[in-house]
Amino acid sequence: MNGVVLISGSGSNLQSIINNSDDINLTIDCVISNKANAYGLQRAKQVGIPVCTIEHSQFPSREKFDQELSNVINTYNPKIIILAGFMRILSTEFTKKYCGKMLNIHPSLLPKFQGLNTHQRAIEAGEKKHGVSIHFVTEELDGGPIIAQSTIEILDDDNAESLAKRVLIEEHKLYPKVIHWFTQGRLKFKNNKAVLDGKIL
Ligand code: GAR
Repeated sequence: MNGVVLISGSGSNLQSIINNSDDINLTIDCVISNKANAYGLQRAKQVGIPVCTIEHSQFPSREKFDQELSNVINTYNPKIIILAGFMRILSTEFTKKYCGKMLNIHPSLLPKFQGLNTHQRAIEAGEKKHGVSIHFVTEELDGGPIIAQSTIEILDDDNAESLAKRVLIEEHKLYPKVIHWFTQGRLKFKNNKAVLDGKIL
């Protein structure tokens, strides 16, 4: 299955997807970043994946940026759009266009801690557990149907950085697995629900 990956930063999730791409039957047609200095672009170039930067700061509005993003995405006709640390709020029009084939990874046990600084907020809230969620992207920010989560313990001496590191280890395992479900046709979006092997998740 062909797809595109959208990033904004380091791209460690992208790296994990690249490393597993043969096993999960994914061809990455392009890696698109809204930041020219995103390290993930180097990761893609190193393995010969085409890259594209669309600097959001060059656009007068969210809608104009999303329109250009959409123009680039559509040139590849992707069957899956993978948000891997893409730190942009997307317009409703954009999310509607790709509903059912756009996945996002979020570093918290959704619906807890939507938005930013999830690790610090989980510690401050006195949570005992934390983790990662992968969900279909809908117009609701970090609110689309959850497909899978991995949970880890928050340790007494954890800080945001140590916790983020351990969550990332889980992210790198979980995202390729979920993408594989999708490329196999086992994972679908139906009636605003995530469905795996015909069962609502
Ligand atoms: C990851 O922790 C991902 O879950 C998070 O950004 C990081 C990107 O790391 N995504 C979000 O916060 C989305 N709201 P990476 O660039 O090394 O993959």
